[in-house]
Amino acid sequence: MMSKPSYYVTTPIYYVTDGPHVGNAYTTIAADVIARYKRQCGYDVHFLTGTDEHGLKIERAAKEKGLTPRELADSVVERFHEAWKRLNITHNDFISTTEERHERIVQHVFQILHDKGDLYLGEYKGWYCVSCESFIKESKEKPNCPECGRPAEWNAETCYFFKMEKYQQHLLDLYNNHPGFVQPTSRLNEIRARVAGGIRDLSVSRTTLEWAVPFPFDPEHRAYVWVDALINYISAIGFGSDDDAFRKRWPADAHLIGKDILWFHAAIWPALLTAIGLEPPKRVFAHGWWTHNGEKMSKSKGNFVNPDEVADNYGVDALRYFLLRELPFGQDGDFRDASLHQRYNSELAGDLGNLVYRTLSMMDRYFDGVVPEPAGEPAGPLAEASASLYVDVDEQMNNLQYSRALDRIWEFVRRSNRYVEERKPWTLAKDPEKRNELAATMYHLAEAIRILSLLVYSVMPDASQAIRKQLALPEESRVLEEALAWGGLPAGTRIQRGDPLFPKKD
Ligand code: MSP
Repeated sequence: MMSKPSYYVTTPIYYVTDGPHVGNAYTTIAADVIARYKRQCGYDVHFLTGTDEHGLKIERAAKEKGLTPRELADSVVERFHEAWKRLNITHNDFISTTEERHERIVQHVFQILHDKGDLYLGEYKGWYCVSCESFIKESKEKPNCPECGRPAEWNAETCYFFKMEKYQQHLLDLYNNHPGFVQPTSRLNEIRARVAGGIRDLSVSRTTLEWAVPFPFDPEHRAYVWVDALINYISAIGFGSDDDAFRKRWPADAHLIGKDILWFHAAIWPALLTAIGLEPPKRVFAHGWWTHNGEKMSKSKGNFVNPDEVADNYGVDALRYFLLRELPFGQDGDFRDASLHQRYNSELAGDLGNLVYRTLSMMDRYFDGVVPEPAGEPAGPLAEASASLYVDVDEQMNNLQYSRALDRIWEFVRRSNRYVEERKPWTLAKDPEKRNELAATMYHLAEAIRILSLLVYSVMPDASQAIRKQLALPEESRVLEEALAWGGLPAGTRIQRGDPLFPKKD
């Protein structure tokens, strides 16, 4: 038997300064959707997420709370586990950077860099943003971090540098030869321009930091947290411990990240990988940032979208749907409460929920809940409308264009609702001579719903399951493309009509 192709997708590993917020939920949901989708398409998916637990940021946050970094991490990591469970996230692994399996590999990587002559001791003097754990360009005045706006701190110490400058041309070749490496393309251009403008060697150790991984060859020096964190993508899949497993997964198919951490993923990471003899990931996709009702979300304003609260009010599926439908993946967007409400009522309750509910109600009414043969009319306009669905949706999903995939699926939902209006089953039902036409109409509507249960699965797993239950369908075991072939619903199926999938909200 041919083995299944591998698909390896990751999220950033999140800082444990605080529990998950909508920004983290966004990346994680997006990764979950592509993971579920590729599983549906027959891939052997590995979906990795986790937590970033070392560094000054965590050390300080713990101190402020009167905790040790270990205590802080342990309490917060639990909240990530709970949140991902609630949001129906199907990661295959969850890595924390303080696990032994990771720390060992961080040391292994630094040893390789050292042995290769890619590290040297030098003097670092410059500005540092603790919140972003990043170095800030030279400046005479005390600068604010260009990324988060917080005041930078002066930092001067002896440290190890990674010879990053040496990899400048290599990075430029990567961007030029593999333009899909960074997406969207506008982000690729940004990174390319920055690298072309010149890069400097990177300070990768500190002696003043306690909460970090010590260098094996010079334990007074501890690893810079960003290098430590990036290594999670390879430590978790067996680099340095299980070559076969590692070779099967690497290079990763997609690192999903926010635009604020692109430099680390699209410049530092491929340079490090090249230095240790590994290929870069196939794709780094940087999504945009959300504001909330037109304002930047911040602790001081206390205006973070709370994913839990949205899930309480509208359901987990609706949260997942809204985040992916509202804005094209890659662009910035505004989370407007009114827009969530509107999309819920019109697209979920109205278009999809209503299609399912009225179809199954009519099936009960006209056929005692038993799906009839599409007598005399095996295909029809819905079969035709569904024919190119797979190809279209698959293209958008492979490009991580979730909103476009959903648009395409909704075209079909709306086409199906129009079909109800065109056929008017309630009129056909009055004429005994139109019994066959009615049967075909109802069969085709039920079949359209079966198709939809498959297509909405990755974004709305609960709704998908609810639809399948009402159609008395087992879990689908075929690959998506085959399962979507028109006519899969067996006539004679006894449906089990349930409550509306998405009850309307005032
Ligand atoms: N620990 C690093 C990542 C290391 S990966 C090797 C980190 N963690 S984080 O917890 O601060 O943030 C993780 C992600 O949340 C980032 O991708 C960031 O873009 C995302 N978001 C944080 N706020 C956001 C919004 N308001 N909107 C969308 N995403 C945002 O960075």
